[in-house]
Amino acid sequence: MPENILIAVAWPYANAEIHVGNLTGSHLPGDIVARYHRLKGDNVLMITGTDAHGTPVTMSADRLGKPVEEVYQLYHEGFIDLFQKIGITYDLYTTTHSENHFKVAQTIFLALMKNGFLFTKVEPQWYSPGLKRFLPDRYIEGTCYICGDQNARSDQCDKCGNVLEPARLIHPRSKVAGDVSAPELRETEHYYLDLSKLEPNVKDFLRQRSAYMRDTVIGESLGKIEAEGLKPRPITRDLDWGIPVPVEGWDGKCLYVWFEAVIGYLSAPIEWGLLQTDRNEWRKWWTDPGAKQFHFIGKDNIFFHTSLWPAELMGVGSAFMELFAGEEVPLILPYDVPANQFMNLEGEKISGSRNWAVWGRDALTCYDPDALRYYLTVNMPEAKDSDWDWAEFVARNNNELVATWGNLVNRVLSFSYKHWDGCAPNVERSSLRPADLELLSVIGQGFKTVGGELEAVRLRAALSEAMKLATLVNQYLDVQSPWSTIKNDKESAARTIFAALTAIDSLKVMFAPFLPFTCERLHSFLGYDKPMFGTQYTEIVKDSLGEHMVLRYRTFVSGKEDTGPDDQWKPSDLRAGAGLAQPTPLYKKLEEGLIAEERARLGS
Ligand code: MF3
Ligand code: ZN
Repeated sequence: MPENILIAVAWPYANAEIHVGNLTGSHLPGDIVARYHRLKGDNVLMITGTDAHGTPVTMSADRLGKPVEEVYQLYHEGFIDLFQKIGITYDLYTTTHSENHFKVAQTIFLALMKNGFLFTKVEPQWYSPGLKRFLPDRYIEGTCYICGDQNARSDQCDKCGNVLEPARLIHPRSKVAGDVSAPELRETEHYYLDLSKLEPNVKDFLRQRSAYMRDTVIGESLGKIEAEGLKPRPITRDLDWGIPVPVEGWDGKCLYVWFEAVIGYLSAPIEWGLLQTDRNEWRKWWTDPGAKQFHFIGKDNIFFHTSLWPAELMGVGSAFMELFAGEEVPLILPYDVPANQFMNLEGEKISGSRNWAVWGRDALTCYDPDALRYYLTVNMPEAKDSDWDWAEFVARNNNELVATWGNLVNRVLSFSYKHWDGCAPNVERSSLRPADLELLSVIGQGFKTVGGELEAVRLRAALSEAMKLATLVNQYLDVQSPWSTIKNDKESAARTIFAALTAIDSLKVMFAPFLPFTCERLHSFLGYDKPMFGTQYTEIVKDSLGEHMVLRYRTFVSGKEDTGPDDQWKPSDLRAGAGLAQPTPLYKKLEEGLIAEERARLGS
């Protein structure tokens, strides 16, 4: 039975380009798991979009001296370009700055209010008399009341590492360029989400999930809550860039960016539904209790995805669907949150402002997407922080991707193409010898072992298992040596090459979630005319907030016009004598010289 699988990836802020750490942290693992489930024939919906609101975005616009709307659009379109080039196959990549998202987020807010999980409170907040508006905590700097450092942010001191109570900051100054007025404290009213009321439910949820969720994630969530408890949090802000609070008399206030961005996991499937013919199809991933939702995020986002978002959903219960569709149906809770740790770069933390980063789009101008995807997977920070090292990038590419897998494919396909007239040898399966059958049986097992690791989101292990199997095919060829047997026993060579081609055809499927571009090419070399995966395209959506570009993926659905194979996660049954296409090498060897060049570009 196909499962309903929602692949939900953290929404990137529209305040910086995406670098390799972001890719390996969330987008790439999400894509690998999505592609695996598609090959298996599951119903996959992979979604996210640009996190358009919040002070990280307005501050970046201030720094660039451009309107926030323009800055957000610029990054948004850059992200879409990157995802297409590196093959992150979102079914829908959208934005939080859309009419649909506004409506869904406001409905969640109202549902929480209806169920009694919101309250209001008046608190002092820094206000700029010059700008005549309240300033977010990040916009205020001054002297830390704990250590005396003069450059503390009002909510946090980087010197002593303490989280600060903003109102206690000494000698506050505004960080807004040109604002020289002295900030003063003024009273302001905000809505709070009563997380303390939901604490028992959140704990139960996490205890239940701890049977299979990563230890790092359970430690950061359940461990923290058990130690510190959950306290009410303000979920509105004095801002004008964002989603208005849907209550009369609350003009000039917006929903807190984290409160609303996580709601994108619900609004994006709904928007996807609106773009489909069947508008209700999104419910497969939201009201079917058997559906599995995976959240791919970096470790800095764990609290929001394991506590705040589940708490919002628990507080909402069936009230969202009641307000939204007039039906009392509960929404489901996340299944797994396989958060990754961080990737560093040449031993130091990635830092955009110091240009200590490998930017996704920049790297793609020099390297093939699958070469990058390969290194980002073998080095994925699943259990602990990892490090991007240029020498290792070259070594892994040359010694593994090219030497083990690429050469195997190239040797066998070119040999077959040359000696069997552009075809696979025409060999009866029943004539295969024990060694051939043994090879095919071991490779066939890979669908279970590699698949098992992918199910459990252990992607490094999954890829290394597939690579081990490629090594076995190389060893088999060393023993059988078809390159020499062909001279006096063409039939024996034919059996060997046919078995090797079949093994390669199977390995192609196992490698495809990781290396989709080259596996798709290999698929066509092997004579298939329908692609393994669907296609991606952009579309412009117009609504009352303006126009936004979205990225979409069209899956092949069996039984319909544009059909393609969908039940592909199984051993190859390559046809004897199948016509091949002229193969070309799938991967390129990288020069050692680039290591020094790339290192020299860092930090400049
Ligand atoms: N924009 C946040 C970041 O880049 C992530 C938001 S995830 C969401 O760290 F679910 F809240 F959208
Ligand atoms: Zn301090």
